[in-house]
Amino acid sequence: MRSKLVAGNWKMHGSLSGNQGLLQAVRDGVKGNAAVAVCVPYPYLAQARAVLEGGSVAWGAQDVSEHAQGAFTGEVSGAMLVDFGCRYVLVGHSERRSFYGDTDAVVAAKFTAALKAGLTPVLCVGESLAEREAGTTGEVVTRQIDAVLSSSGVAAFSSAVVAYEPVWAIGTGRTASPAQAQEVHALIRQRFARDSAEVASGLQILYGGSVKPGNAKELFGQPDIDGGLIGGASLVAEDFLAICAAA
Ligand code: PGA
Repeated sequence: MRSKLVAGNWKMHGSLSGNQGLLQAVRDGVKGNAAVAVCVPYPYLAQARAVLEGGSVAWGAQDVSEHAQGAFTGEVSGAMLVDFGCRYVLVGHSERRSFYGDTDAVVAAKFTAALKAGLTPVLCVGESLAEREAGTTGEVVTRQIDAVLSSSGVAAFSSAVVAYEPVWAIGTGRTASPAQAQEVHALIRQRFARDSAEVASGLQILYGGSVKPGNAKELFGQPDIDGGLIGGASLVAEDFLAICAAA
């Protein structure tokens, strides 16, 4: 059996004073067997480390540069994230893909850079509403994964996580049904199994998109759903902890 992982994605939310209580509540309230992490904005990594170090909750970032160092104003490297004790980093979140021009090729390069730095990349994939309605969900998700597989190889995924996040379900309150999510998760696992049955069976595939305390248990109960990537609900300690407990 694969273990479960619940990762919070704070996106661009938080403040030094507001985060303190949230981080402490998560640190003190987390129970159950699932691994738990929070991906916070860069400036709050030191704070996350100060509060969470020594406990069971890991922390990480929401993006990483594809470059190791150099004249890339505004960018943050994988080694810098490791300096702040990060374990995880999101790559290819749909908001990065749609607002900041992270193409499949850029995402693949960020994935490689994260692994090289010793981080666990969480590769986010997912289709838009138009793509789902056009019946191309499988094609889109496979293309996003293939871009990374062709540059990093399947073995890299023994140290990585995949998150399936249908774009139409992110922040919309419209969750994929457990059956809809399971269908895509199974397809993703089959794609990896074509290259390595072993990697495929060990790979954690998270679901993200309007996960709430009320729908987490049923989603996480699906055979190919190994936890969640939680946006809005990760900003409310009680909700996030309930979701962690459901895993
Ligand atoms: P949401 O966001 O839970 O607010 O839908 C998920 C995500 O974007 O990671």
